[in-house]
Amino acid sequence: MRAYDVIKKKRDGFELSFEELNFIVKGAVSGEIKDYQISAFLMAVYFNGMTERETLDFTLAIANSGEKFIAKGITGVKADKHSTGGVGDKTSLIISPVLASLGVFAIKMSGRGLGHTGGTVDKLESIKGYKVELSTDEFLKIAKKCGVSIIGQTGDLAPADKIFYSLRDVTATIDSIPLIASSIMGKKLTADDDVIVLDVKTGNGAFMKDLSSAEDLAKVMVNIGKGAGKKITALITDMNEPLGNYVGNALEIKEVLDVLAGKVKNDLYDVSKMLTAEILYLSGYGDREFCKALFDKEIENGKALCKFKEFVAYQGGDLTEILSGNYCASKSFDVLASESGFLIELNAEKVGISSLLLGAGRNKKEDKIDYLAGIILHKKVGDKVEKGEKLATLYSSNESLFSSAIKEFLQAVKILGDKLQIKSKIIKTIE
Ligand code: URA
Repeated sequence: MRAYDVIKKKRDGFELSFEELNFIVKGAVSGEIKDYQISAFLMAVYFNGMTERETLDFTLAIANSGEKFIAKGITGVKADKHSTGGVGDKTSLIISPVLASLGVFAIKMSGRGLGHTGGTVDKLESIKGYKVELSTDEFLKIAKKCGVSIIGQTGDLAPADKIFYSLRDVTATIDSIPLIASSIMGKKLTADDDVIVLDVKTGNGAFMKDLSSAEDLAKVMVNIGKGAGKKITALITDMNEPLGNYVGNALEIKEVLDVLAGKVKNDLYDVSKMLTAEILYLSGYGDREFCKALFDKEIENGKALCKFKEFVAYQGGDLTEILSGNYCASKSFDVLASESGFLIELNAEKVGISSLLLGAGRNKKEDKIDYLAGIILHKKVGDKVEKGEKLATLYSSNESLFSSAIKEFLQAVKILGDKLQIKSKIIKTIE
């Protein structure tokens, strides 16, 4: 078999067999198929899609491209939440310690930033000393001791996804249902989870811009998970404005600490609560209302915050700098309201791109991240604003990055005279 022929077949709109898909996955991992051919294959899938059977086969090939993680010696429920990607989306870092403090094991393999969206692994790496690359033995040891462990895509678990993911990030092939579904579920099927809750984002800052494609993506992933014997639900959530008030890496860790400390009860708190409650419900902790109250309790009694600090320390992380206020770059720019009224739009994609332009994300695979770059949003959609009031503060360690980031940010904002009806961020549940 030749990669050329498989790429050509997909380019011309034909259905690929399991053998052909597996050939691409194996060739990517062994290095026999080079980045330029993998990129061409991904673009062919982007344009021509995959049938349900191809998506399932591709997912299984990715899941089988490396080792499987067996949670040996863990007897409790193992659960995971995975998002399709958004801006300011740091819910994993809130949900995981809450679950662990309630006795559910949150053992997670997360991704890096993709396109204009942030990634949990990059956020964790902004904590001094935090190790995202652990062997599966070390990963298991930490999970057993404290109930949470979060790592990046290691060489041994779903290595094919690591390769596809970083190429998709820089070849405009992210927003494809079969590529997202196989990336997420390929990783999920290497793990030993009993319960999976998917956060499928929709809106301008999501890869699925409209509700109907978000629903399609959710259904494909839920079906793959059910087929593999998992208890799985997808919540479709709104990503038309960033989640929470902080966008960046260290900045987002700071907001996680504030939410876990009970100091902030914003949309980030609400979405984290709904996703946690869904996991607890599927794990048999009670009905959804009761599970929501459990979330509130773990925040109020301080246990979730303690659990977060404990897990970060187990992974070598030192939160001292962030806790002492060193979570944003020294150079900053305040964006002021040009008129009075109500903030009716804060386009999540544009805010995400602005943050990336400040240095918080990558343009090329090899780019280094400025962990202290990002944005604090002082106003969110629905808020009243006065002319000259601060809408946001942009941070970067590199002064020369401000002008394009400011330009992008200004395009994200719309102020009008009339107040907007604020809708719930939870749009739908796909069971
Ligand atoms: N998260 C993933 O793991 N993969 C994607 O393709 C998108 C979001």
